Amino acid sequence: MLSRTPWLILLLLNIASAQIPTPNPAIPSPAAPPATSLAPPPAAGGQQLLVSFTPRLGRTSAPLAGSWLGLSIEWTHVDDALGTGVGASQRKDIRTGPIVAGLLESLRNSSGGWPIHIRIGGNSATRLWWQGSTLPRNPQSLWMVIPEELAILQQVAVDTFSKFVITVPMLNPDPAYAVEFLTQGILRNIAPENIFAIEIGNEPDHYVKNQRRPPTYAFPEFNAEYTNAYNAITAAIGNGFEYQGPAYAYPWTEEYFIPFIQTQKGTKFVAFHKYGQQGCSVYTNPNAVTPLTLMQDPEPEEYEWLDAIAQTSKAFNKTLVWGEGGSSSCNGTAGVSDTYVSALWTVDMALEMAYRGIQYGSISGAGQTYYAPYAVDESIGRVTARPTFYGMVMVQRILRGANSRVFRAPMDGGWATVGNSTKTWGVLHSDGSASLVIITKEAGAVSIKTANVPPVSCPNGAAAKGFVSRMSVLSSTPLTATTGITVNGQTWDGSLDGRAIGDYVEESIDPKTGIINVPGYSIAVLRVGCDAGMIGVQYTPPVPAPFIPATEPGKPGWTGNGTSAGIPGGAETDANGNVHGPKVGALVGIGIAAAVVLLGGILTVLGIQRRRRATLVDSNSHPHPYARNSAYLGKRGGEMV
Ligand SMILES: *[C@@H]1O[C@H](CO)[C@@H](O)[C@H](O)[C@H]1NC(C)=O
Ligand SMILES: *[C@@H]1O[C@H](CO)[C@@H](O)[C@H](O)[C@H]1NC(C)=O
Ligand SMILES: *[C@@H]1O[C@H](CO)[C@@H](O)[C@H](O)[C@H]1NC(C)=O
Ligand SMILES: *[C@@H]1O[C@H](CO)[C@@H](O)[C@H](O)[C@H]1NC(C)=O
Ligand SMILES: *[C@@H]1O[C@H](CO)[C@@H](O)[C@H](O)[C@H]1NC(C)=O
Repeated sequence: MLSRTPWLILLLLNIASAQIPTPNPAIPSPAAPPATSLAPPPAAGGQQLLVSFTPRLGRTSAPLAGSWLGLSIEWTHVDDALGTGVGASQRKDIRTGPIVAGLLESLRNSSGGWPIHIRIGGNSATRLWWQGSTLPRNPQSLWMVIPEELAILQQVAVDTFSKFVITVPMLNPDPAYAVEFLTQGILRNIAPENIFAIEIGNEPDHYVKNQRRPPTYAFPEFNAEYTNAYNAITAAIGNGFEYQGPAYAYPWTEEYFIPFIQTQKGTKFVAFHKYGQQGCSVYTNPNAVTPLTLMQDPEPEEYEWLDAIAQTSKAFNKTLVWGEGGSSSCNGTAGVSDTYVSALWTVDMALEMAYRGIQYGSISGAGQTYYAPYAVDESIGRVTARPTFYGMVMVQRILRGANSRVFRAPMDGGWATVGNSTKTWGVLHSDGSASLVIITKEAGAVSIKTANVPPVSCPNGAAAKGFVSRMSVLSSTPLTATTGITVNGQTWDGSLDGRAIGDYVEESIDPKTGIINVPGYSIAVLRVGCDAGMIGVQYTPPVPAPFIPATEPGKPGWTGNGTSAGIPGGAETDANGNVHGPKVGALVGIGIAAAVVLLGGILTVLGIQRRRRATLVDSNSHPHPYARNSAYLGKRGGEMV
């Protein structure tokens, strides 16, 4: 979750003033060269723009990770975002959702085979406790993680090659909770090879706001706490893992990211969270997000502050990670985060982040909320790809695997000054080929002529060719469309296995003389290279490690004496470590009662939807009392972020 501080008011004012129509100096091009015979006629009212392969200001990003865009999923949504549906873990069904597996494979193939990073974290990581915990439960610990949820993650790794970033709880400053979760839970259910990084805590800059730490809590206390947790964890599980932190929400990112990077030597992946548009704080009005405001996000220099952070990360040999993000925070905005405009946003924002030195990003919310890249469509009872997913596929296909570098491609000498217009990016690929990306965020088409096409050498002295890929939507109301989107002519609408329907389509063009027509609200990518088609296999990951349970206590993989432990005993403590009275126990009781009612509802819904027969769970063993908090969470078994 991300909430905004008053700087957002300034941003809002900026957006408000940007909406006053003013002539855009970057657009008309009296000097544009004449169209060649290859050129389709420009659309009525369309402009012809000259776009150059020359990096604007000579600046390109650092080489990027092979799998640039992955997912961030709450602990509360393992069942429905990765498994076979709500309640799967309680039925001991640890299979990967078949449609989800296909969607993940589509993303992976689009990058040339690099494993997708899936972060399991967010607020739910702060609030979780391990089922078999012997520690006093904290009052805000409301989500019990059970072994079957971890078994689902292990199975997803085996089925899809994905790698996990596992966020461990730091609700209590005592790292015993994180250590217990890792040693008793995670490492007894997931093979270490399938863990990309262990993330220590989530959004510490919201701890005070959420009454998780005393009001005096500030960066020095957090940094000391993080060091303490890191030391305790590495002492308990050895040096075989990479770590990720601090997962700032936003309030501390600009001021306290660099000191974190400078002091936390053992943490390789340094992550921050950032959503587009307004958050859900009292300072802003989340309902003010519209398709038109989203198209103005990100603003061209909005992320300039990331430059110093990226430079420090590089100097300290760290990988900068956009750990969690989406088109607008706190569940997203209906009619915006779940419509086609979010696909346009995903591509533009990802390229902005890549340009600023972010090595990889995680889009939040699979299985839930308006901004979810995919979710169960209640009307048909199965997982469907949402528009954001198309944007993610497009990003992977634009970057084409490891070591690509992103730059701003100048357009008639300038570059887009506001988002609600034509935006251009360039990519230098590791094999010497290069791409231009044109994003039209306006209704009218533009036609594009290229300049400074790089000399790409092809085998046997063959001339380089131009290949055009597109993302577009067929709809009379394109920005708010939820279906009809295609990437390279392929759709996931109606896909029963998560695989694309339709052949992969590219257009051929002479890269030096051709004119590309880019319809309104679409993306066209001109790639200058040697071979047509989606990137082939660039990386073949090793076969994912199976989890091998040990047969004796004390050995790695020992799964203990069964999984029947319930809610742990012991006194509740608050953020200051003070013990609370018995009222929390009563709350849990109410929670279980509510959960029983909700579970009945869930099972009815599942039955109606012809889904797999559910094995009835003993209601007293329902592991998720947090479901009491809202009808939405109860129904979908989750927490909004
Ligand atoms: C953004 O697009 C809308 C609709 O096409 C238009 O009304 C508005 O003036 C545009 N804003 C800017 C800043 O170009
Ligand atoms: C991914 O690529 C492999 C190898 O080319 C292919 O067999 C598989 O069908 C592809 N999967 C999807 C979902 O496109
Ligand atoms: C950076 O880290 C990598 C692996 O984590 C290591 O191989 C390399 O030597 C490090 N470089 C520096 C300059 O510390
Ligand atoms: C969150 O989003 C979902 C749509 O995926 C919606 O059904 C639900 O009502 C939203 N919850 C809240 C609290 O806004
Ligand atoms: C767990 O099982 C082991 C081996 O069967 C046994 O020695 C031990 O007492 C058991 N522990 C608990 C807490 O039941």
